[in-house]
Amino acid sequence: MTDSLFSVAGQVVWVSGGSRGIGRAIAAGFVKRGAQVIITSRDADSLAKTAGELQGGKPVQTHVCDVAAPEQIRETAAALWEQYGPIDTLVNVAGVNRRKAALDVTEEDFDFVVDINLKGAFLLSQEVGRRMVARQSGAQINIASLNTDRPLKNVAPYALSKAAMGQMTRSLAMEWGPHQVRVNGIAPGFILTDLTEKLWSDPAMREWGLANTPQRRLGLPEDMVGAAIFLASPASAFMTGQTLYVDGGFTAGWSWPIPE
Ligand code: NAI
Repeated sequence: MTDSLFSVAGQVVWVSGGSRGIGRAIAAGFVKRGAQVIITSRDADSLAKTAGELQGGKPVQTHVCDVAAPEQIRETAAALWEQYGPIDTLVNVAGVNRRKAALDVTEEDFDFVVDINLKGAFLLSQEVGRRMVARQSGAQINIASLNTDRPLKNVAPYALSKAAMGQMTRSLAMEWGPHQVRVNGIAPGFILTDLTEKLWSDPAMREWGLANTPQRRLGLPEDMVGAAIFLASPASAFMTGQTLYVDGGFTAGWSWPIPE
């Protein structure tokens, strides 16, 4: 007997920010489990390269969509529906960060981060949600952050964008629940990707990260796949408005240097 509880086979899945890092790993996870995956980001070449590398299932499709450009969101949503039919699951991954002290943040820094991480994520959710609500079916997964819960120092625009994403997840879940559209989030812990590689190559950072993560390792993009499949599948049918912390236990409690 094949258990369909966690099945995403046959779903059409849109991964925004799917060319590398966490988005790429999640896309690969869906491909492997029989979904038709479309990855989008700003750059056609890197999308094509990633799509070519993600083998083992239905060929991955690509489309350029800069989430900081609302007209591209509208155009992409319409084009994908036309080409691939209804999107069953949207994974909202596209995100950026600029690390600096709050007093040094320029208006341009603020707009850059918030336009992508929050405004872009919202407009994308809305554009896809509009169609999911009309169809009375769909799942959306927002990639949040540890900053959704509490801010890390020196990333104020990022932290406030990710905190707002937590509330966006709840707000949309409230509004779209009656229409059978579920909206949940995944908050990754410290994950080694292009976005964070330089940060974690600093020995002091690494030591702190490991000391404060009960599972004593940094995460890999692949660690996000299980939660994403769960949130897209019938296994989470009665779950909406929640953000799952996939963080090796980082947010479970406080580490302190008490002798063991
Ligand atoms: P990454 O930099 O490796 O990948 C980001 C992806 O978003 C790329 O595909 C990039 O092309 C795309 N992207 C960036 N700006 C875009 C735009 N304007 N329009 C469309 N696509 C755009 O980053 P990573 O580490 O994989 O992060 C992915 C998401 O996970 C982000 O939302 C990030 O905030 C979040 N996250 C990452 C953590 C980490 O430790 N790496 C921890 C918690 C959350």
